[in-house]
Amino acid sequence: MVMKRAIPKTLWGTMFDKVITAKGFLKDFEKRSAKNEKDETSTLFANLVSEEKRLKHKKTESAHLATISKDKRNKKMKINKEIVGTTLQKKQHKEPTEYGYFFCGAAACLHQSFNQRPGSAGPLRSRRLSVIRAGSYADELLKTAKSIASPGRGILAIDESNATCGKRLASIGLDNTETNRQAYRQLLLTTPGLGDYISGAILFEETLYQSTTDGKKFVDCLRDENIVPGIKVDKGLVPLPGSNNESWCQGLDGLASRSAEYYKQGARFAKWRTVVSIPCGPSALAVKEAAWGLARYAAISQDNGLVPIVEPEILLDGDHSIERTLEVAERGWSEVFYYLAENNVVFEGILLKPSMVTPGAEHKEKASPETIAKYTLTMLKRRVPPAVPGIMFLSGGQSEVEATLNLNAMNKSPNPWHVSFSYARALQNTVLKTWQGRPENLEAAQKSLLVRAKANSLAQLGKYSAEGESEEAKKGMFVKGYTY
Ligand code: 13P
Repeated sequence: MVMKRAIPKTLWGTMFDKVITAKGFLKDFEKRSAKNEKDETSTLFANLVSEEKRLKHKKTESAHLATISKDKRNKKMKINKEIVGTTLQKKQHKEPTEYGYFFCGAAACLHQSFNQRPGSAGPLRSRRLSVIRAGSYADELLKTAKSIASPGRGILAIDESNATCGKRLASIGLDNTETNRQAYRQLLLTTPGLGDYISGAILFEETLYQSTTDGKKFVDCLRDENIVPGIKVDKGLVPLPGSNNESWCQGLDGLASRSAEYYKQGARFAKWRTVVSIPCGPSALAVKEAAWGLARYAAISQDNGLVPIVEPEILLDGDHSIERTLEVAERGWSEVFYYLAENNVVFEGILLKPSMVTPGAEHKEKASPETIAKYTLTMLKRRVPPAVPGIMFLSGGQSEVEATLNLNAMNKSPNPWHVSFSYARALQNTVLKTWQGRPENLEAAQKSLLVRAKANSLAQLGKYSAEGESEEAKKGMFVKGYTY
């Protein structure tokens, strides 16, 4: 009995380079204990423990990096850089890989076998297949996700909270009133021909229930353009106690009933944005909390007919290198997918909204679109299963042109997923500057939205050229410590 508990506990969470070894131990162990060869089984157990000791120093890459000196860390990241830069595809399998989760699977399998009832089927055969939830909305979720991830189209994100929308309006001298917010959203959502380039629009709750000044619901304006209405469902970020000045995202309480209401109002997809800060660590606690929150939200959204957009934004803030961003992004996405799977989220019915892998905004060197594309795709290929239909990037403070050029570079060759955009700032900047809150500028502002939407549509197809772009569109929009 002691042994039954000790073996899985000893091995749980360690890194293992051959899952098969665990199975081998298991088989041997079972054979011998079945024959009651007590001496042999205790020798086997001793082997198992010494194997665990051998593995103990092989911590996961990131855990290891956190404990080593800066010099060694830089060296490690240099190696990572070389791997990405040279024979990317060929070397991928040689990369240090986190097998923690696979090994947890092997340990769980050991654990399960020891809890087997006498006379039941063999341990490996008896492992239950993981349950994939096929809720009543399963077919619809896949259709919604597919329609959003359709060629040459992406998402217009206008889900700023009232406070953040106030910042947009203040930039052109307007007060943050409901009338001004409605007027601005009406300008955007009634742009003729928007549906040629935009497949989904993320709205804030206020906008979901609003109408045009002529009384047409905004959701109907969107449907007429074949644009899927979406809704921001998180309740924003608050400080995470016990972390290194990091935050966590609220909104799970009451989410199921809110989501059901949003569905009734016409929303078909949802968004939950949480953030990871590189200069703050990120701490293991903050990464785990972000991943777990996203996974719980995704499961609840799918249960209520909404395709969840999964957005762990890695903030641009900091002077770190692109290699460091790659490392943090890989760590973050591995946790996100682990918990998505734990919550039985249907991968075919989600969309991702990652940050591109770039150097920190204050890093001494800027990266070219080709470099950003290479690092970002490396990260995605290592972490995102091809079952996921669409990757819809956020712009995160890049200039409109930068965000479009980077997306274009990622679509120069085929990808396993639809690689597209879900920009807020990188679609709205020129529009706001053109509009200035004046009715006589409305048409010109709508035209400027179409210019940006079309540019990103071309970038989704890998056919964009920055020729003729305005100076305004080239202006960076990064604001240190920006909050949504
Ligand atoms: P940005 O494109 O401005 O980074 O917006 C991200 C976002 O999450 C808005 O929905």
